[in-house]
Amino acid sequence: MTAETTVPTVSSAPKKTRKRILTGDRPTGRLHLGHYVGTLENRVKLQEAYDTFLLVADYHMLTTRLDHLDEIGRNVRDVVLDNLSVGIDPEKVTIYLQSLVPQTAELHLYFSMLVSVSRAQRIPTLKEQMRDAHITQPSYGLLGYPVLQAADILCVKGDLVPVGRDQESHIELTREIARRFNELFGPVFPVPDALIPSDTLLPGTDGNTKAGKSLGNAIDLADDSETVRRKVMGMYTDPARIRATDPGKVEGNPVFAYLESFDPEKAEVEDLKERYRGGRVGDVEVKKRLVTVLERFLAPIRERRARFERDPKLLDEIIRSGSDRARAEAQQTLHDVRRAMKLDYFGL
Ligand code: TRP
Repeated sequence: MTAETTVPTVSSAPKKTRKRILTGDRPTGRLHLGHYVGTLENRVKLQEAYDTFLLVADYHMLTTRLDHLDEIGRNVRDVVLDNLSVGIDPEKVTIYLQSLVPQTAELHLYFSMLVSVSRAQRIPTLKEQMRDAHITQPSYGLLGYPVLQAADILCVKGDLVPVGRDQESHIELTREIARRFNELFGPVFPVPDALIPSDTLLPGTDGNTKAGKSLGNAIDLADDSETVRRKVMGMYTDPARIRATDPGKVEGNPVFAYLESFDPEKAEVEDLKERYRGGRVGDVEVKKRLVTVLERFLAPIRERRARFERDPKLLDEIIRSGSDRARAEAQQTLHDVRRAMKLDYFGL
């Protein structure tokens, strides 16, 4: 007898034991410190406790950036590199590309029948996206942006979705879709919860309340030392302060917001704030401290990034094998979906 005939084959999918996280980024380019504070830091912690799926949402780029599609390939790699550089471990996290899991598009089609046009139009991010991308007439596809996101989450039956506060309305819609589907066709989907980490919104270097790539006021995770130094030394501070002996404003001053987020010496930051308020420390000294703090924070991140950059085959392999795993999950989900919807009349 050969070994094959004696070893029983296990055909059923492994049972889900830990709760599953699904989160993701659109490949818009390099990630910055605002992303770190808003989501990446939290993601790195969560990978220890949950079965984490991390998607790069390239289909979503089609909703607003049809004129920039040639950038997506590069941006996909940058986003993955940034995630790896802050400590996402590809051994623990399934990193995958949305378009390598085309079941997402099939699920999106089914879900699009469960959402009324007026409900989709009420999602607050639609107006923001139109404004940011200078779109006056939204396409049918842009209107479906959050429905596609629901398909991402439910394709792998995600239980928890760590996202920034701006994405809350999309998770709410995902919950409605999951409930509606289950009500109509039977219990297939979990009703996922949003995990919104912190309300700390990192301001831009120009004092704008938000750091953003399109605003040109962010410090990228991949910025080199000289760029970081230049950006910090040029940071907006308290415009009313002319001399170092003038009392300074800490609130709304991005230099202090960055120190609060990245300086591990909390007591020293408090002391610096006191001195700043009392006109006993100059802007230059505070900025120099921030340069040192950010260098210390970014050095290991740059190092990890460089390691992966030296091995592009490894990066591609991480994305490919993650996508294979995600696709296997999605195939199983779509099998369940078609059966529940009685669409399996022609086999599965
Ligand atoms: N819409 C998200 C963003 O712009 C990206 C995204 C796409 C996503 N699909 C997702 C996030 C699924 C969480 C889960 O940031």
